[in-house]
Parts: sequence; structure tokens; C-alpha cells
Amino acid sequence: MENIDLIIKSAQCVLPEEISIKDVGITGGKISCIQDSIDASNYPNAQIIEAKGKHLLPGIIDTQVHFRDPGLTHKEDLHTGSLSALLGGVTTFLEMPNTHPSTTTKEAIEFKINRAKELSYTNFGFFIGANGENLEEIKACQGLDGCPGVKIFLGSSTGDLLLYKEDKLLEIFTSVKSPIALHSENEEMLRERKDIQKEAKSVHAHYEWRNVETALSSTKRVIGIARKANKKVHVLHITSKDEIEFLKENKDICTVEVTPQHLTLYAPDIYDQIDTKAQMNPPIRTKKHSDALWSIGINQNVVDVIGSDHAPHTLQEKNRGYPKSPSGLPGVQTILTIMLDHVNKGVLSLEKCVELLCSAPAKLYSLKNKGSLIEGYDADCTLIDLSKFQTLKDEDMASKVGWTPYHGKVIQGVVEGTIVNGKPAYLYGKVYEGFRGLPIVTA
Ligand code: DOR
Repeated sequence: MENIDLIIKSAQCVLPEEISIKDVGITGGKISCIQDSIDASNYPNAQIIEAKGKHLLPGIIDTQVHFRDPGLTHKEDLHTGSLSALLGGVTTFLEMPNTHPSTTTKEAIEFKINRAKELSYTNFGFFIGANGENLEEIKACQGLDGCPGVKIFLGSSTGDLLLYKEDKLLEIFTSVKSPIALHSENEEMLRERKDIQKEAKSVHAHYEWRNVETALSSTKRVIGIARKANKKVHVLHITSKDEIEFLKENKDICTVEVTPQHLTLYAPDIYDQIDTKAQMNPPIRTKKHSDALWSIGINQNVVDVIGSDHAPHTLQEKNRGYPKSPSGLPGVQTILTIMLDHVNKGVLSLEKCVELLCSAPAKLYSLKNKGSLIEGYDADCTLIDLSKFQTLKDEDMASKVGWTPYHGKVIQGVVEGTIVNGKPAYLYGKVYEGFRGLPIVTA
């Protein structure tokens, strides 16, 4: 072995085939060796991280964040969003196009990439949004480093991106090779049912307005279009038993994402407890639905990946009261630890957790050399203490909005270090400034 820059010693490594205690050597931003023991005395210049008793995971890939940059930077920007990611053990984020202006051109993607090269603590990718008039721009972004694929809002949410006409969707599905990620709610039904929202007395009306049927009908429709086009599509943040049962029968033509919040929080309790802070699209629903996301979604392998849908809005905005309050909640800093708490509660294995947060996202978006601890892969790793407890607190959140829906919750599992491209940018409570992430490369 030539040189080694960094040795992570004696962690329980979650490898593709097993969990075992190894020393991991990192050279030039890549994992150069994974061995039972690396003799550090042979590498006097190497930095050593003692990790006995900890677990080393492949770096977490968050497939769905909104970092609001450009245009809505009073809520978040690429610096604060990526710092939040780093503290949460996320080494790569994929960001959504509903910024202001919406990200609908190659130029807008390149603008974000250049800004992230200056500001981002972690690796990054930016989705291009489809608006029905930018097919050539979408095609120009196919295979572009830093762009994982296309995002389509089938129902309106934050921002003005919206596209639900069948002919336009069919045109995109048949002519675009990149992954296509869908926000699936039925716009026509949302409009028909708008009075429920307008006349609402409390935030509980949110999941009545945007009910299961609005999500299910949109998902059925879009899967039909995907079949016509013979294009596999990715359906984001699935929230209901009904949809997960439907998607289970249609796995040949789609992949499926859920969020930690839909797996962890449920109505009406969460709305009673934190009011509009729990308001998001598609909504958090009753326990019956959350239970089905576990029993069918996770346990029967219908769900492929977990993404946080980190969607920060300021407390001032949230406190306007329903329905004036915007939809979305922050989550990039808690995506991993909330799932580790589920691991500790025995409902999820650590191996499955790593699949949902690391290897499956890398596979879904063809992220080259990411998502697994394998020699030759990018040295993106997350060091955790699975046994430590912590209380999640608003004041510990690096997001500009400074709050978390989990404030006060005691969970088991702590992020101890986040190694991005071989650099320990966060370690044992300290952020090391000066490192910047890179755009994703797709295979
Ligand atoms: O609740 C949501 N908030 N859902 C979305 O689809 C968008 C997001 C946001 O950007 O605020």
C-alpha cells in the first residue's frame, strides 16, 4: 500500500456482506483498504480516528432536500442546509428545483452547482424541474455531473412548479433517460376540495383536504402513464396504506420513497402536539397508514429509499396559522438518527437502514462509487454511536429555521463523525472548516 492519509481504526463496519470490526484506510479521497488491521506505524503522516465501539456506515445520501437557494434564502441556503446535512451524517444531498426562480434550465443547474462548490460542506446534486415547456433543457442535463434527474410536481405545493397533463407527462417519460422523481397528488382533486382548506378551523383539516384519495388517484394515473411509456419512475414520499398496497403490485415500473416523518409521526396526535409544524405535502396521516408504511412498505421491500424531504419554513411563517402557514418541515439533520432510533427499537435492522439510506439511493440515481464501503469507492463515511442517547433540540439544529418537529424527543443513536471525500469535516462534536463537497458523478 503506497500512502494512507486517514485510518479509521476498529469500527464495526457495515460492509456489503457483513458487519465486522475493521481498519479502514483512506487515500486521496478514496477508500484504499479495508483490513482486519492496518499497522499505523507504517504511515506516520496518517491521521488516525479511534473508533472502537462505534459503527462506520457508508455516507448517508439524502435523496430529497429543499435548500431554498437561490431566492428563498431567508429559510435556508446551501451553506446552512449542507451544514445541517453534515451534522446529520449526510455526505451527499440531492436538492429539489422549487427554488425561486424554479430550476428549469441547464444554466440554473450550473448556477447551483457553482454556488454549492463554494458553499457546500457535503457532496451535492440538483434536480431539474419539469414545467411542460423545457424538454430540451431536461435533455441537456442528462448525464450532467451534479444533476441526478428530473422532478415533477403533479400536484401544487411550495413554489410554482406543476405539471399534470397526460400528453406532456407521456412526452417526458418517453424521451428522457434520466431518473424521474414524482410528487404525486391529484391537482384537480386538490382544487375541487379547496373549500375544506379555506374553511379550516385547524391544521387537522390539512390531511382531510389532501386526503388519501388525492394521492392514490394521482399515483394510479401516473403509473398508468409510466406503463404506456415503458419508463420506470420514482414516486416520492408515499404516505398511505392504499398507495403502498397499489405500488406493491406495480414494482416492475416504479421505485418508492418514504420519509422518516411519515414512518414516525401520525395524526391526529402530532397535529395536537406541534400544530402547523407538522403540516407538509403530502400530509402526515393516521397511525393505520404509518403502520402500513412499515409492515408493507419497509418489511415487504416495497420501499426502495428513504429521503428526508427537508423543507424548512421559518417559525414566523409557520405561526401564521392554518391555512396561511406553508407546508414542509426540516429533517436533513435528523434523517439518520431518527432511523437509528427505529433500529434500536428493533423494528429495522442496521443493514436494512444502510440499504435504504446509502446503497439503494446510490443505485437508484446511478451515483458512481457511492453508497457502500468498498475499496476504490469514494471515502464518504458516517461514524455513529448506536448506543448513545440524545435529546433532539431546536437549538442544536444548524438549519437557518432553527427548529425540528422532534424537539424534546429522546432517541438512541448519535452521529459522531461525517467523512466527506476522505476529509473528516465533522468529528466528535467539532466542525472542521475549509472542506467543500463535489458534484455527484452518474455512471
Ligand atoms: O411539504 C412540502 N414542502 N412538500 C413539498 O412538496 C414541497 C415542500 C417545500 O418545498 O416546502
